[in-house]
Amino acid sequence: MDAPLLPRPPVALSIAGSDPSGGAGIQADLKTFSALGAYGTCVLTALTAQSTTGVTHVHEVPVETVRAQLDTLVEDVRIDAVKVGMLSSTALVVAVRERLTSGPLATTPLVLDPVMVSTSGSRLLDDDAVAAMRELLPRADVITPNVPEAAVLLGEEPVGSLSGLTGQAHRLVEAGARRVLLKGGHLDGPESVDLWLDPDAGGPVEVRAPRIATTATHGTGCTLSSALAALRPRHQEWLPTVRAAKSWLTEALRHGEVLDIGAGAGPVHHFHEQARWRDVSG
Ligand SMILES: Nc1ncnc2c1ncn2[C@@H]1O[C@H](COP(=O)(O)OP(=O)(O)OP(=O)(O)O)[C@@H](O)[C@H]1O
Ligand SMILES: [Mg+2]
Repeated sequence: MDAPLLPRPPVALSIAGSDPSGGAGIQADLKTFSALGAYGTCVLTALTAQSTTGVTHVHEVPVETVRAQLDTLVEDVRIDAVKVGMLSSTALVVAVRERLTSGPLATTPLVLDPVMVSTSGSRLLDDDAVAAMRELLPRADVITPNVPEAAVLLGEEPVGSLSGLTGQAHRLVEAGARRVLLKGGHLDGPESVDLWLDPDAGGPVEVRAPRIATTATHGTGCTLSSALAALRPRHQEWLPTVRAAKSWLTEALRHGEVLDIGAGAGPVHHFHEQARWRDVSG
């Protein structure tokens, strides 16, 4: 990383669900924070039963328990950046929005990963919760929807091309988003291209990386959004943060299969830079 070291590690908070298989959710977020030099804290919103082959059960954490986790944490611990992931109901979206718009977190840099559509394509949020999520957009410094999520937020069909992504990124800004990183992981092509739009900084920017031929893609979205939260305190601007997060994630994808976790889509290798065991993936 080229960015200067800070006098102390930044403290990052993930508000998200648990993935027992360790590749996505809170577990991926804490690994990402640690790998990128941030001190990780977390507030759980849901317990999922899942493996590399899929999700079999979701138990939502009661809203008052989510509020209590947040209130108790921020009363004591300073938070330098927040990432929000899985919020599975209207009540949870509303409660988290309240805590992010007043009190100690009201101005903390916030990355919102609007987790709404499962990898298999099914909708995880009902219409009311999607409406509540739209109201959370203006509070986030960056939102990181994938192609199906951008479509749900806009009430449009998913796009299949980069020009389609550009149009949707502009419409998400019109809908209240401050900056958009529209992830192109679901599009085909030799490169994995995400579209960055910061209307204060000019037109859209294509953030490109080689597409890695791998089965280890579980948790890429969680990992990218938590990398943005972890790295933002070290970079002066958002675009360098986005580029650093994307290139680190690409290397984590490149080394994922060496972990050999599960029979389905395995995790990326969050600790590819620190690995002390023999890594035969090159
Ligand atoms: N095979 C790949 N090679 C390189 N980059 C990839 C690959 N697959 C996804 N990415 C990148 O990973 C990031 C996450 O994108 P993706 O569109 O997969 O998000 P997502 O659907 O939210 O992920 P998740 O299923 O974990 O929620 C993006 O930067 C995307 O370009
Ligand atoms: Mg996702």
